[in-house]
This record gives sequence, C-alpha cells and structure tokens, in this order.
Amino acid sequence: MEKAVFCPSRRRRPDARAVLGCMLAVALLALLSGCAAETSILRPSGPAAARIADLWWVMFGLAMVIFVGVIGLLLLALFRQRDRAVQKPPANGRLFIIGGGIALPIAVIAILFSLTLWTMNALAMRETTLTVRVTSWQWWWEIYYPDGQFYTANEIHIPAGQPVRFELSSGDVIHNFWVPELHGKFDLIPNRPQVIWLQADTPGVYRGMCAEYCGEQHAKMRFVVVAHPPDQFAAWLRQQQQPAAQPTDPTLLRGQQVFLSAACVYCHAINGTNANSRFGPDLTHLASRRTLAAGVLDNNRGNLAGWILNPQTIKPGNKMPPVVLESADFQALLAYLESLE
Ligand code: CUA
Repeated sequence: MEKAVFCPSRRRRPDARAVLGCMLAVALLALLSGCAAETSILRPSGPAAARIADLWWVMFGLAMVIFVGVIGLLLLALFRQRDRAVQKPPANGRLFIIGGGIALPIAVIAILFSLTLWTMNALAMRETTLTVRVTSWQWWWEIYYPDGQFYTANEIHIPAGQPVRFELSSGDVIHNFWVPELHGKFDLIPNRPQVIWLQADTPGVYRGMCAEYCGEQHAKMRFVVVAHPPDQFAAWLRQQQQPAAQPTDPTLLRGQQVFLSAACVYCHAINGTNANSRFGPDLTHLASRRTLAAGVLDNNRGNLAGWILNPQTIKPGNKMPPVVLESADFQALLAYLESLE
C-alpha cells in the first residue's frame, strides 16, 4: 500500500505503453480500412482523379510528418517530466512557440493552398466532342445524350481515353455526383446546373454514387460509368438511338399492350410506342442495362418481377407504386420488358 503511494513512476510506466499501443492500433486500423474498398480514390483511372489522388498523397505525407513530430514531442514531454523534479523553462521556448505554433502551420497551409490551386487549374474545362446530360432525382439518375437525342438511366457510357463533357443538374433536392476513380465530388443543386469533364483512361466499369444525403434511399442511388473502346462506344450509341423494336411474337405483343394500358405508361417512356412520360426512367433499352432501381438489383427476370410487384419493400419511399396484374399479363409484361435490348 505504502509502496504504491510513494512510487508513482512505477505506476505510470504501463500508462505510457498503453497510450503507445492504442495509437499504434488506431493507426493500423486506419490503414486496414482501406484494404477492402471496391472503389477507391487511391486507384485513379482518369487524369482528373489522378491529380486529386496526387494531392491526397501530399496531404497524407505532410500530415504523417506532423503527426509523428507532435507525438514524438508529446512522448518526450511525458518521459522527461518524470525524471525532473523542477521544470525550468527551456532557453529557446519563445522561438519554439513562434516556429512550431505560427511559422510551421502557415508554411504547411501555404503549401497545401498552392497545390490545391495548381490541382484546380489542372482540372479546368477541356475541349470535348461528346456531351452527357445527367439529372439527379430521388433516387435515380436520368441520363440524356443530346447528340444522339435519347435517354437512358443509371448507366453512363463513354468512350475511353478522351474527355467527355458532363452537364450536371438536379430535378428535386440536393444530390452529389461522384465517380471516385474518375473525378471528385460535385454537388447537384436544383436550378444551379454545372459543367465538368470526365475521362476514363482505360475501358472498364466505374462505380458511381450519390454522395450527399438526399432522403431515405440516398444509399440506394448508384450508377455506373461504362468506358468503351471508341468503336464499341459508337456501336452502343447507334443501338441506343434506335426506337424499341415492334414486337411480332404474340406474348411480347400482349406484354406491350399490358404496358401501355397499365400504370407503367404514366411514368415511363419507351421510344417507338405511345409511352413518353419522363417521370420515371426511360425503358426503351431496359434489357441492355446492368442493373435495376439505380444499381440496387441485378437486371434479371426474377428481380424485375420483384421490383414491379413490390418496389416499396426493396426501396421504401421511392415513387414507383406496386403494380398488380393478372398472372398471364404479368408474365407477358416481363417478357416484353426483357426484350427491350
Ligand atoms: Cu441523391 Cu443522396
């Protein structure tokens, strides 16, 4: 008992180790959290994202130098205090405060500010030949190609290796357009359209998402950017410009009639039919898309059936009402929608 009271240094030593251990664990956890990411800003696939990643690494490096310096000084203070009964103020204390407390932060902020300006300058608008118009809605993405004059949804196709002009806007609340591997985040504010450029260096599929809380299904507001070799992109563009094929098969014909007479027609458009509402996603080439419901479901017959029957279970609060149909009509509708390639 007496020993514990008069020997404080022996009690303190494990505390310092515990502090060190905790700091190490936190640092390792932070490092590990990056390992599982499917989409990462640290794997840029376009010139804009590459510049942003470079800036991030500089900031990270500077932050680590400062972190190690501060922790080093903290440990020095911890261990030195224990050994000295009386603390004398250090001879160069004032210099230390002015240098470390004023000059160093100003220098660090000046470096980061200059690098940020340099990065922003590198991201300035470029010459483009293709335009994609993206409008965000709760909770899906309307995509329009003014050159081809057609709509699609939740899936943006571009040619790889060249900058593409993106005209971004929101139709309702504030959303945020983010493709981490291609560029930074862009707030989509109603009545405030903005123009950016996006480039994917290599063909591939890049995940995008809404990065601003926009209501209960914010997390289910995803999209993809599909970058093609230029010739394949041209083929995709030609295919999407075509109106939907007029069905000749009796089942598909019945499916089309069901679509045009049920609630579907009030919200969706199918180019080449009388359905031309822009309230919901355009379905002219629905079957050519990878996903349903803004990246929530794989595009297959089972998921399509589930989505039409009960969209409110899959994505509560979205604007699609459940559609109740007689079984044969429902199967015909599914067959028709699946034929829209
Ligand atoms: Cu749209 Cu979050």
